[in-house]
Amino acid sequence: MTQKRGIPSHVAIIMDGNGRWAQQRNQLRAVGHRAGLKTVRKIVAYAATLKVKVLTLYAFSSENWRRPPNEVSALISLFIYALKREIKSLNKNNVRLNIIGDISRFSDNLQNMIIQAQNLTKNNSGLVLNIAANYGGRWDILQSAKKMATQVTNGEITLDEVTEDRFASIMCMGEFPDVDLVIRTGGEYRISNFLLWQIAYSELYFTDTLWPDFNQTLFDEAINAFNARERRFGGIRN
Ligand code: IPE
Ligand code: IPE
Ligand code: MG
Repeated sequence: MTQKRGIPSHVAIIMDGNGRWAQQRNQLRAVGHRAGLKTVRKIVAYAATLKVKVLTLYAFSSENWRRPPNEVSALISLFIYALKREIKSLNKNNVRLNIIGDISRFSDNLQNMIIQAQNLTKNNSGLVLNIAANYGGRWDILQSAKKMATQVTNGEITLDEVTEDRFASIMCMGEFPDVDLVIRTGGEYRISNFLLWQIAYSELYFTDTLWPDFNQTLFDEAINAFNARERRFGGIRN
């Protein structure tokens, strides 16, 4: 796939602000999450058109279980609904769907749906869509550390072979390039335990727009801002 000039290869989005969007309209928070799903659909299609290679969306954090049970179940039901409803068209559009996060906490039914959806789309060569569900950046680093430790304990690798590259390859998304651009909607200036390792040199873009109101024009603005940045990766200006 050819890369359009100025288009970041890997964009990650913290889709925040659904609850406030609903509250502003005197609606239940779940209504905001449903509106947020519509934005997901539009932004996934747009990212594919732009030839973004990898799009990673933060859908449910490892801390979001702290929300009231009715909101947690509304979010999980919406996830199941979206998986069922969207998988065929994602597949038709050559999108490869990947769920990142600790899925072992989900019901067997949902885990099976996730595995089936991933299998169905695994050979697709278009946009890679990563959905972070029960994901935490610290969990991700820890699971990689544990796997490496096991390999060392079993004598499969030596301690000297615990390198940054090997470690990175075991992290979620180890096969994909590091994130170029992180976008957070909803006006907060924080990472909220989203990707940590993978954003070491990402450009960060924050907008006050609430996720259900995010659109193609605002996505273009984020990409323009990204293109106006000078990425030095610790070096100096050429
Ligand atoms: C983001 O919207 C979606 C999830 C965390 C699942 P929020 O639900 O956090 O919305 P606000 O931040 O309360 O407005
Ligand atoms: C981050 O938003 C998680 C997702 C968008 C899935 P939160 O609303 O959970 O983050 P905090 O609590 O404001 O940090
Ligand atoms: Mg929030």
